[in-house]
Amino acid sequence: MSTSPYMLPEKARHQDAPSHGLSINDMFPTAIPHSAGATTAVLQPLTAKMKTEHVNFYYGKFQALHDISLEFASNKVTALIGPSGCGKSTFLRTLNRINETLRDTRLEGSITLDGENILDKDVTEIRRRIGMVFQRPNPFPKSIYDNIIYGPKINGMLKGKNAAEIVEKSLRRAALWDEAKDKLHESAYALSGGQQQRLCIARALAVDPEMLLLDEPCSALDPIATAKIEDLLVGLKSQCTIVIVTHNMQQAARVADTTGFFLLGRLIEHAKTDIIFKNPSKKETEDYITGRFG
Ligand SMILES: Nc1ncnc2c1ncn2[C@@H]1O[C@H](COP(=O)(O)OP(=O)(O)OP(=O)(O)O)[C@@H](O)[C@H]1O
Ligand SMILES: [Mg+2]
Repeated sequence: MSTSPYMLPEKARHQDAPSHGLSINDMFPTAIPHSAGATTAVLQPLTAKMKTEHVNFYYGKFQALHDISLEFASNKVTALIGPSGCGKSTFLRTLNRINETLRDTRLEGSITLDGENILDKDVTEIRRRIGMVFQRPNPFPKSIYDNIIYGPKINGMLKGKNAAEIVEKSLRRAALWDEAKDKLHESAYALSGGQQQRLCIARALAVDPEMLLLDEPCSALDPIATAKIEDLLVGLKSQCTIVIVTHNMQQAARVADTTGFFLLGRLIEHAKTDIIFKNPSKKETEDYITGRFG
């Protein structure tokens, strides 16, 4: 077995683990007090904010996703890793129905949010509840202020609310307030790349999403901007369930509670992040994280 900074080679593999990964309550066992008088807090079983079951996705005749079943635990960060072209972005885009905008595509299987099928819901509502941030910052050609207020405005969230307060709160949540507060009415394009990415996160947060999907949000950023976004994600998870696609395994190790490894359109393994990096069940996962392929 080859070595990697993440691996514990002497540990035995969990070869019996199911191929789709563990359920969230297998990953995070709950503590039960020994007696009625015990002071130990009872940890509630984790709930799945979102669940995909047997998801297949096709671009025309090409099947990009095969039978993906995965649970996203509420208020946790889930990282999706895997080699280029393995379907991470396709999968992420099915979660808030962005893929529907592409012609000649087909989704099979079920995706539920709080137990309800997202396909039965109004698509605008789903996209408000599940925000998305892309690899390249994509602010609108508008001022910083107008970028933030756009979502609340089109979602009818401004009634009786102070727009300036929403702008400040969103920029603070995205750790951009101090840098942006004196130029709120200047073009968003006047911000640096890292600031623009935080603006896109602030814009996504302005509509109070319950989930945030991020597709390689730091790939174009320097280590300082990356560290700010990672801190931000860890801080946000108390309010939001986060899914992040990343090629940076150190990033997954730093921010994610659980990590899913994809290969050729399949979910090979989903487990607690330290298990994935130190003691994965599947040989394919081990080969990937030790740099043998990908
Ligand atoms: N719009 C599209 N039309 C047709 N095929 C597509 C489309 N987008 C992606 N694919 C194909 O689906 C597969 C998965 O692509 P996807 O972009 O989801 O991979 P990825 O894991 O995000 O890769 P990367 O790490 O390079 O971003 C690839 O074979 C890709 O060529
Ligand atoms: Mg991608």
